Amino acid sequence: MTEAFGRGVRIAGTGRAVPAHVVTNHDLAKIVDTSDEWIAQRTGIRARHKAADHETVFSLGRDALLKALDRAGIKGEELDMIIVASVSGEMLCPSTAARIGEAVGANDAAVFDLAAACSGFLYGMNLADTMIRCGRADRIAIIGVEVLTRLVDWSDRTVSIIFGDGAGAAVLVADPDPRKGCVHQTMHGDGRLWRTLYHPKVPRDVPDNDTANPIRLGYLRMHGREIYKFAVTRFQQAIHEALERTGLKVDEVQHYICHQSNQRIIESAIEKLRLPPERVYVNIDRYGNTSAASIPICLDELFEAGRVESGKPIVLVAFGAGVTWASCVWNT
Ligand code: UT7
Repeated sequence: MTEAFGRGVRIAGTGRAVPAHVVTNHDLAKIVDTSDEWIAQRTGIRARHKAADHETVFSLGRDALLKALDRAGIKGEELDMIIVASVSGEMLCPSTAARIGEAVGANDAAVFDLAAACSGFLYGMNLADTMIRCGRADRIAIIGVEVLTRLVDWSDRTVSIIFGDGAGAAVLVADPDPRKGCVHQTMHGDGRLWRTLYHPKVPRDVPDNDTANPIRLGYLRMHGREIYKFAVTRFQQAIHEALERTGLKVDEVQHYICHQSNQRIIESAIEKLRLPPERVYVNIDRYGNTSAASIPICLDELFEAGRVESGKPIVLVAFGAGVTWASCVWNT
């Protein structure tokens, strides 16, 4: 391990993997009472990817990581740690990270899953930066991956229209320049609001006072309006705080990467904080809400398009079930 003090962290490579099958709003309108117009206007979503039987959190996560390793020029066996952020893994035991570790040959790395829903990737990135910066690790892979379409009841239009499947990964490595990497980070949670989005499997999982709509055991239960209001406020606070703490002006940030949950939530932050819209990355129209995968998929698209300039900051913000929220200002 290299000298810990005075070092920074660099994103050495990113990757993504999404199922081939695409479900459009028009497809959904054939099975529930909804329309392309309603979904697009209320969420910004036009289409989402849906996993086939053979596509899993494990396989999508593995494929995203293999691409990230390839771009980073790093072998799996060189990784010190693999963090898989997901709330839709196939098995609780062992972790998805352990299985991905085997698949990429990381046979000596710390491997664990992280359940912070849509904030999971950012929680992982913040933790990884800290671990590398203080010299506990040199190379860490973070994967955000979800197959949420298996957890939604396709006849429930209040939930099924939102979610999509996919994976994104980033490989973080130590860098001699201490200015690189995370220069501001926050991670929060407020468990009093967990009932706004949860996955009840048996009757005892359902709180007594949650009676608003029929309970569908085995499927995600979401109180969309409540989360929406919470997210609008938290997004704005998190971005405002990130700029204030780092002394950055809105136009000194090269990209704002917000969790892709609803385009209207992102637009309200643009309006309120006067963010330059062309610097706020949006791909929700093509992917829907992929929870923990949403931020790393955005990141990978930006890197792949050659749109990430070295030496300039990126602001990342997420919120999700738990409820959780997190932010990070990353110097590239
Ligand atoms: O990643 C974190 C997790 N989740 C989120 O971030 C989700 C945050 N919430 C949202 O994005 C929005 O609340 C939704 C997109 C889920 C819903 O949009 P909304 O503007 O909050 O709609 P609403 O639930 O207030 O419903 C408005 C109307 C209702 O009809 P009435 O009562 O006004 O006649 C609904 O029954 O729209 C109806 N509606 C629909 N109509 C067509 C609800 N879902 C649909 C639908 N298609 N899919």
